[in-house]
Amino acid sequence: MAKEGKKKLIVGNWKMNLTVPEATILAERLKKEIVFVDGVETVVAPSFVSLYSVSETLADSAISVGAQDVFYEENGSYTGEVSAAMLRGLAKYCIVGHSERRIYFGESDRDVSQKVKALLTYDIKPIICIGETLREHSDGLSKVVAVSEAEAALRFVTKEDLENITFAYEPVWAIGSGKACHPDDAENVIQAVQKFIKALFGDKAADKIRILYGGSVNAENAKGFMKKNIDGFLVGGASLDHEEFTEIVKTTLKSS
Ligand code: PGA
Repeated sequence: MAKEGKKKLIVGNWKMNLTVPEATILAERLKKEIVFVDGVETVVAPSFVSLYSVSETLADSAISVGAQDVFYEENGSYTGEVSAAMLRGLAKYCIVGHSERRIYFGESDRDVSQKVKALLTYDIKPIICIGETLREHSDGLSKVVAVSEAEAALRFVTKEDLENITFAYEPVWAIGSGKACHPDDAENVIQAVQKFIKALFGDKAADKIRILYGGSVNAENAKGFMKKNIDGFLVGGASLDHEEFTEIVKTTLKSS
């Protein structure tokens, strides 16, 4: 895959929101406001049905497009699924292992590792979500869970793939709750994941991986996170509001 420097990354996960016309309008609005900058790359991840229209709208813009999920088989009798081969050309990135998929759709660590493999085969950059539940958080297991999910997701990943891999540390209890994780705590978990990746692949290779924070990010709390060693954000709710999302991108840019 093509080499790119380690820019900050801001990803808007639109989840199961917006019809095709609505998604296209939001993409048009963002295109006007978010321009090419050196230090930050912006990505939006619409639903599968809006991918084509949004990717056409954002062609030649500063905003890249991502998918929210993928199935790891290449083609065949898998009703309702979408493969990496189908996403190629439409999506530069693809979110995998989001906690909503793990919890509501039973996605396992093994599924995540196979999805990562399929995406890399088709030159699509995986954004792998990791993070603990509230129970695990209360039990002091935040780092253990994040590291173990990261380990599983990297099963088929080589050193050469690392620059195309992004993790998003998303504590499940912080998603959609309005209660973001404290930036110090997010940094702690992220450091533990970085340490693990360094042990696995060596310092230099591990430095290429980006680790984002996600969970109730907004324009206000983004400032606190940007003071930490965090490579960007995975934004849910706030990414549906073009002004708020643009503000998050600007805040990140100022601190990059
Ligand atoms: P949120 O979602 O920003 O609405 O908390 C984040 C996510 O699920 O990726």
